[in-house]
Amino acid sequence: MLHACPLRIVIPGGSGQVGHLLAAHFQERGHHVTVLTRGPFTAPWHTVHWDGEHAGHWIEHLEHADVCINLAGRSVNCRYTPANREAIYHSRIHTTRLLGSIIASLSDPPKLWLNASTATIYRHALDRPMDEFTGEIGGHEAISARRHAPDTWNFSIRVATDWEAAFFSASTPNTRKVAMRSAVVMSPTPGGAFALLLNLVRLSLGGTQGNGRQYVSWVHALDFAHAVEFLIARDDMEGVVNISSPNPLPNREFMTVLREAYGMPNGIPAPRPLLELAAMILRTETELVLKSRRVVPRRLLDAGFEFQFPQWPDAADDLVRQWRARP
Ligand SMILES: NC(=O)c1ccc[n+]([C@@H]2O[C@H](COP(=O)([O-])OP(=O)(O)OC[C@H]3O[C@@H](n4cnc5c(N)ncnc54)[C@H](OP(=O)(O)O)[C@@H]3O)[C@@H](O)[C@H]2O)c1
Repeated sequence: MLHACPLRIVIPGGSGQVGHLLAAHFQERGHHVTVLTRGPFTAPWHTVHWDGEHAGHWIEHLEHADVCINLAGRSVNCRYTPANREAIYHSRIHTTRLLGSIIASLSDPPKLWLNASTATIYRHALDRPMDEFTGEIGGHEAISARRHAPDTWNFSIRVATDWEAAFFSASTPNTRKVAMRSAVVMSPTPGGAFALLLNLVRLSLGGTQGNGRQYVSWVHALDFAHAVEFLIARDDMEGVVNISSPNPLPNREFMTVLREAYGMPNGIPAPRPLLELAAMILRTETELVLKSRRVVPRRLLDAGFEFQFPQWPDAADDLVRQWRARP
């Protein structure tokens, strides 16, 4: 599907979960991958040091590059303390602004700049799917009536909107830009969301989370990589693009399917108060499981992208199989 000649692909922040899967995917297909990292970080592909703060020698790698895929951002899997909020915000908005100013200054800038964004940008949605055209950004109105109106959810939405604003306000006339509003990328690698959920299932803790009505938006890692490949190949695609499977499903069903895929009939449910307590102990936030993300990839579907794993049962079976086959 992708260009026949090798592409030069630069991935700032590519040392994490998504970066690994994209770097491996593109390197296997013969492309030249360079990951920008605050390292030390060794990988089977080229890595270059940057600090995410200032210009440096790393900008030479963006000159004449074909694609820049910016994934830099402090993990959101933490307590949203003031210091962590600052790090989550700064690591995304500042790196995006920095890349914008560098790309604008190059004589031969990348033809395409893909910037990470998130499906969390949409409101808490139980009632209807959120696509790029009719989806509602934000969430204050939808959640204000709830007990414990989650200020963490509003924070995440502010990060996402400012992140996209920093991206789209960069003046890069010779570079096509796509903000990837990605759902949770499900890959069998350790440390990712899928491995975390599967561990709960294995411990008989993989029951319904919260009231189970909140939707889970997800995308199989292979479809994520193919979607990025598709966005690279399609010169007509720019702006915001949702990258999620077309079939988000309520948490209750999502967890049932995962338990079935693993062969674990039962799982102890985790109602909201228990989740709040566990999140405090595990130094994370419940937003990651309680916010209803009902996101659909309208633009990808309209453009003819075909998902290999559009349904969660097939995806879960495949991911469990890959997880079991790990060395
Ligand atoms: N994983 C998902 O399912 C998912 C879904 C939606 C959106 N996203 C977004 O996609 C991006 C990549 O996700 P991921 O799961 O691969 O994240 P990850 O594993 O946490 O990796 C992110 C990378 O960002 C770099 N980084 C962290 N703080 C930084 C800073 N202050 N300045 C510059 N770089 C910094 C780190 O690289 P070094 O330490 O090597 O510099 C790290 O490896 C993130 O921005 C995330 O919000 C992810």
